[in-house]
Amino acid sequence: MEINTLLARAGTGFDPTTGAISMPVYQCATFAHPALGQSTGFDYSRSANPTRSALESTFAAIEGGAGASAFASGLAAIDAVLRLFAPGDKIVVTEDIYGGSVRLFEQFHKVCGIEPLFVDTTDLLATEKLLALDGVKAIFIEVPTNPLLKVADVSALAAIAKRHDRLVIVDNTFLTPVFFRPFEYGADITVYSATKYIGGHNDVVAGLAVAKDKKIAERIAYVQNATGAILGPQDSWLILRGLKTLALRLKVQESNAKIIADYLLGHKNVRKVYYPGIEGTQSHRNLRCTASGYGAMLAFEVDDFSRVERVLSGLKIISFAESLGGVESLITFPSRQTHADIDEETRERLGINDRLLRLSVGIESINDLLADLAGVLD
Ligand SMILES: Cc1ncc(COP(=O)(O)O)c(C=O)c1O
Repeated sequence: MEINTLLARAGTGFDPTTGAISMPVYQCATFAHPALGQSTGFDYSRSANPTRSALESTFAAIEGGAGASAFASGLAAIDAVLRLFAPGDKIVVTEDIYGGSVRLFEQFHKVCGIEPLFVDTTDLLATEKLLALDGVKAIFIEVPTNPLLKVADVSALAAIAKRHDRLVIVDNTFLTPVFFRPFEYGADITVYSATKYIGGHNDVVAGLAVAKDKKIAERIAYVQNATGAILGPQDSWLILRGLKTLALRLKVQESNAKIIADYLLGHKNVRKVYYPGIEGTQSHRNLRCTASGYGAMLAFEVDDFSRVERVLSGLKIISFAESLGGVESLITFPSRQTHADIDEETRERLGINDRLLRLSVGIESINDLLADLAGVLD
């Protein structure tokens, strides 16, 4: 089946007893055993729950992986993947990833002996130097990065990583399998904040980790059961429902984002626009051959800090709120919000300064979105 069919049928066909088209919410902690030594396949909901299992097998099929595990948040999914490694291991990491992921690497896994080696993964030579170091076990790539939308060449990085026998982990939250399919370009594991496009309605926090290889998928499921950061049945159902319209939502969101990027590029009070769909940029070149879309996230730098305050308090349709990917457009101020945990020097070096705003474009009418932006930027 093609991806659009798999998405539309998310949660359908799992309940032969009733023929339910929408997978029921099994709001249940434990399950009766038919007899000693027998199981229905479900014993206790931390280990497996029918609604969560429906989501996990549906998403594994969508991604083309051997297995998926659903977690209580995107960070819980990343945390479970990092638990595949042991003290002394090193992981090469894209330097400008989501601030919460940096905190997880730096403040938790580093303390447990897993050292992150941050690098600009768009620089293949610098990245290969690190991948060749003793003790390096994997590379963790975020494409596009958050908030500067830089896109590394995943296919080239995966080829280098394979030469050195390293695992390739991709945080594909921004593009989703609708636009980019990391396993087809050499990735071994993908992680998602399903809170974002996959859920799509800003009403649930969730995470997914998928592995191409059965053994790795089983190991992640083992960690999921052992550490317990599972996604609950109600939230699993919300993610299944979100999946049904993922492709449709992304199409409209991307179309709106392209128009807004063009508008911002021509605005006299905007200094820079970061959007991978802008032709002539390295991000565009790196995505052009591998992805079927450029997504609906963009960032832009206004002329000075005083305008940031005007923008954030003056917008009427676009909400000033954290998160991204939902049907409602949201704007954030990364240096004070999502990336506040990164030290100031690093932030400035990366370009996450006090004039940078990040916009998650929704499905509203493009005319209303442009009028809203014009109201605060003109
Ligand atoms: C790219 C990316 N990965 C992971 C996360 C973490 O996901 P969650 O907030 O669901 O824990 C985020 C959150 O913004 C993100 O943007």
